[in-house]
Amino acid sequence: MQKIVSSFIARSIMSVCALSLCFQTQIALAQNTSTITVQVDKPGADISPTMFGIFFEDINFGADGGLYPERVKNRSFEFPEPMMSWKQIDKGGAQGTLSILAQDPINEENAHYAHFDVTSAGKGFGISNEGFRAMGFQRGATYAFSLYARNPAHTERAGNARLVQRAPVALRIELEDANDRVIATGRLAGFTPQWKKYSVLLRPSTTAVKAHLNILVENPGMLDVDIVSVFPKGTWNNRENGLRADLVKLLKDMKPGFLRFPGGCIVEGRYLKTRYQWKNTVGDVAKRKLIINRWNDEFKHRPAPDYYQSFGLGFFEYFQLAEDIGAAPLPIINCGMACQFNSSELVPLDQLDPYVQDALDLIDFANGPVTSEWGRVRAAMGHPAPFNLKMMGVGNEQWGPQFIERYEVFSKALKSKHPEITLISDAGPSPNDERFKFLWSKLRDLHADIVDEHYYMAPNWFLTNSDRYDNYPRTGPKVFSGEYAAQSVGIASPDNRNNWECALSEAAFMTGLDRNADVVRMASYAPLFAHVDGWQWTPDLIWFDNLRSYGTPNYYVQQMFSLNKGTNILPVLINGSPKNAQQKLFASAAVDRGSGEVVLKIVNATPDQRQVQINLAGAGDVKRMGKAFVLGSSDLKTENSLDQPTKLSPQQRQFQVPSAEFTYTVDPSSLTVLRIATK
Ligand code: AHR
Repeated sequence: MQKIVSSFIARSIMSVCALSLCFQTQIALAQNTSTITVQVDKPGADISPTMFGIFFEDINFGADGGLYPERVKNRSFEFPEPMMSWKQIDKGGAQGTLSILAQDPINEENAHYAHFDVTSAGKGFGISNEGFRAMGFQRGATYAFSLYARNPAHTERAGNARLVQRAPVALRIELEDANDRVIATGRLAGFTPQWKKYSVLLRPSTTAVKAHLNILVENPGMLDVDIVSVFPKGTWNNRENGLRADLVKLLKDMKPGFLRFPGGCIVEGRYLKTRYQWKNTVGDVAKRKLIINRWNDEFKHRPAPDYYQSFGLGFFEYFQLAEDIGAAPLPIINCGMACQFNSSELVPLDQLDPYVQDALDLIDFANGPVTSEWGRVRAAMGHPAPFNLKMMGVGNEQWGPQFIERYEVFSKALKSKHPEITLISDAGPSPNDERFKFLWSKLRDLHADIVDEHYYMAPNWFLTNSDRYDNYPRTGPKVFSGEYAAQSVGIASPDNRNNWECALSEAAFMTGLDRNADVVRMASYAPLFAHVDGWQWTPDLIWFDNLRSYGTPNYYVQQMFSLNKGTNILPVLINGSPKNAQQKLFASAAVDRGSGEVVLKIVNATPDQRQVQINLAGAGDVKRMGKAFVLGSSDLKTENSLDQPTKLSPQQRQFQVPSAEFTYTVDPSSLTVLRIATK
């Protein structure tokens, strides 16, 4: 009996505690109640289909070593140190020499090649390539090994009797893991005196993240070797010279409105001679001339002496990628200025013609008929249909009167021949400095189409600037928020993290982009990619190693905005005010005319759960069940990683919508997207 009584008392105490906790929560929620009114009956401007897109630049091994899945670094021996990333190897008892030669090369663009002269092959004499911070191979996948080779013994036979006696060489190809265990082999033989491409398929017996490649001569003789490649067969859409499938999938999953390429400062180059020249990146891959990557030596604290641009991923591949992922292509061209953070070299105004011609020819390459000079090149590469280019950027992140003068030259020439192409100009590297103000006033006078703004700022800047565009003029040039990312420590700091605090602040700011979608027509986070062992700049949207990849919390913010952009702005009041950011609550809304849904985004930038009274004013009858997508964590330091790629990722829920006025409880520190169908 005593036992029953004490158990009853214990249960009563627990119930009282539970009730009291519930009561306390109710009080807390009541204290945090806000109202959000969506003026469904007052739809505003259309939202651009290109509103949220992608900024691609070959930084952090984003192209070679990243999206472009070639495993061999310095495959053509064209780095200034031709043996960089290669080493000579002897598997035991071999005798021979290895030289880098330049006589009678495959072509002028690929002037160097490796020459083996083996007198005793032993267990194999050859070279090994380390890859891009090693090579990744997947068990069960197939990789095409290829090289260009020729047997010089034949060509020298007349002058060197010794050579005639040698048997033609055979090559053994090996992939080895980090412990030098062979995980795949292949064999090539029958090399002719002329340069020719040879290939063999390799199928690794095991998965290895840190592997390397060996090419071994198996018997005495000579061989010239160039353009050595190990390329996965399983590229996106199984294309030859295609792109890394997992990375393209992450891009496609964002449903991006546009793809900007090839950057970024890489467009400008440290010097004009190393600027990005699109014509050198199309046509036969073997003829694309390599140059230094502009990020090779930019940061002394993150040197990358082995960072070059092979241009295996060139303008054709960028256009094709844009098409594959349903994004509008946005190429940026050099406007006769090298990077103003570096050499600031300028092309004199009266010598800009070749630069302008490059821009005109690019439109021809993208859109011209197959009978035109550059349309023919596109068709020969396998794409006779036009790429539907509608916009182009003139210069990347330029400033000063020098830019305005050059922009005017480009704009005059491009607008007179191609009025159908929208031109993007820029407002410099900062969101509000003197350079910014000067450029905006000039570009406004010039009736520029769209001006690209950049802001790499602290999370608090993003939280306090969601009203940035509220007072921008509604006429004149539109805005492209072309590069932005919250910096947890400071711009270009190697300690910046892709944590939830940064991503949440970007989400808050982006509600301001949504609200002003009549002025802001495009937006993209930057930079896009980073190799975990090869990066120069952080934070970045997507990180990867040689096999795996993941989207950061910032990626999921971008994705949620892009997937839920809607088609027309709906005005939003928070606590009765049209101003965003009331008590750290941010909101934007749109109607999606395709699905008939009201799309409401709410960012709660406080650590508290918040109860929100939502009023869909003028919506009439609504469907009883709504969809909620929630991205949130109370721990602002939360990050994703290769081992926990989706630790922070959107969760889908359903919720009751009793009428057009309802209460919704938003999670602490969260971005919530509500989709409610109207009847
Ligand atoms: O995104 C990294 C760099 O930041 C871009 O190349 C440049 O445009 C900006 O300064």
